[in-house]
Amino acid sequence: MNVVFLAPSYPAEMQQYTRGLAEVGVNVFGVGDSPRAGLPKSLKPHLADYLQVPRIMDEADVLERVHAWLCGRTVDRVLCNWEPLVLLAARMRERFGVPGMTHDQVLGFRDKMLMKERVKRAGLRVPHAFRVRSEKEIRDAAEKVGYPLILKPIAGAGSADTYKVRSRQELEAVLPKMRHVQEASCEEFIEGEEFTYDTICVGGEPLYENVAQYLPKPIIARSEQWISPVIITVRDLNQPRIRAGMNLGRGVLKALEMGDGFTHMEWYLTPKGEVVFGEIGCRPGGAHLVDQMNWTSDVDLFREWARVVCWHSFKANGPRKYNAGIVFKRALGEGRITSITGLGDYMRRYGDWVVAEELLRPGQSRRNWKQTLVSDGFIAVRHPDWDEAYKMSFAAATDVTLYAGG
Ligand SMILES: Nc1ncnc2c1ncn2[C@@H]1O[C@H](COP(=O)(O)OP(=O)(O)O)[C@@H](O)[C@H]1O
Ligand SMILES: [Mg+2]
Repeated sequence: MNVVFLAPSYPAEMQQYTRGLAEVGVNVFGVGDSPRAGLPKSLKPHLADYLQVPRIMDEADVLERVHAWLCGRTVDRVLCNWEPLVLLAARMRERFGVPGMTHDQVLGFRDKMLMKERVKRAGLRVPHAFRVRSEKEIRDAAEKVGYPLILKPIAGAGSADTYKVRSRQELEAVLPKMRHVQEASCEEFIEGEEFTYDTICVGGEPLYENVAQYLPKPIIARSEQWISPVIITVRDLNQPRIRAGMNLGRGVLKALEMGDGFTHMEWYLTPKGEVVFGEIGCRPGGAHLVDQMNWTSDVDLFREWARVVCWHSFKANGPRKYNAGIVFKRALGEGRITSITGLGDYMRRYGDWVVAEELLRPGQSRRNWKQTLVSDGFIAVRHPDWDEAYKMSFAAATDVTLYAGG
């Protein structure tokens, strides 16, 4: 089987999917803009061939180049697990007559307004929302939606340019900050807890499902640097409130005509127990969420995803054993990391449950916490009991501190 896989080396976790594809016995034809000479040594054995293109976002140019490069070869799959390129993959499938989701179906997972419209049409609960393109449209929509409301880009990511607006006065203060955003969604603010619903599907039927909780909600995690964001996978998916979110998720997959592959959805659970759709992508979650799912069940979903999309078979049906928590740290101060406190004590107390510790070390430069959720590194723990996993995750948030300076 010949598989074209877009962006096989960047972002870094794509290398794991490339490995997974090679391990299930297919020939991987990678297409990316990373220089061929710079590809990691560990990646090369998994690639049958690699095409370096000058501009990976230039759809027409990439299509022409890939067409010329593949000349004469049959292609069985065109795959992509990186959000910015999922539409390009769909275009390529259509152009080469390869089975898989169409451009229009993928658009339902990319355009945040279109996805809400399609999900709503299926009778599922979505935030009341309007597509807005000017200050006038925003003001008009705000009057209809009421306060508090959310203003965010239609093509957003990582909570960038996303505002909770509590009043007309606050709206006037936010408007100038949104001027560079061409299209936004002005929508009802949904109060409550926020979760993910993640799957690997065949024809929209999940062969694998996961739920994780954001603590706190991403919009809050991104607004205050002192926060150490925590995400914990939920081991027990049989709790009624979690089942309700999963049922919503399954309905969303049908409404949007999901095909094969990963999905990553976000949903809200209100204080009254109502579940509300947030957003969905037809690709895996980033920021180590797939690692967390692997730690939850001791499986390798990088490879199982490949088995599912290539051979429609899934071989990791074992029990969920743990709640797996990840804690992202942000150093105090700017520049380079100077010291870490509390880590020794933490490892002495909880080391048996720690599955990964990838904090930056003294001398390394801080990362931009607004641009990468991973921030200055992370600690990951797991425990069969939710309360224990929660306690250990929050201990890493409060008791371990990175300092930077100079
Ligand atoms: N309608 C809403 N009600 C409450 N919170 C919201 C709403 N829309 C977005 N948010 C908050 O903003 C965050 C980012 O919005 P989201 O639609 O997930 O965009 P992205 O993750 O692509 O930046 C969400 O995770 C959530 O915390
Ligand atoms: Mg989101």
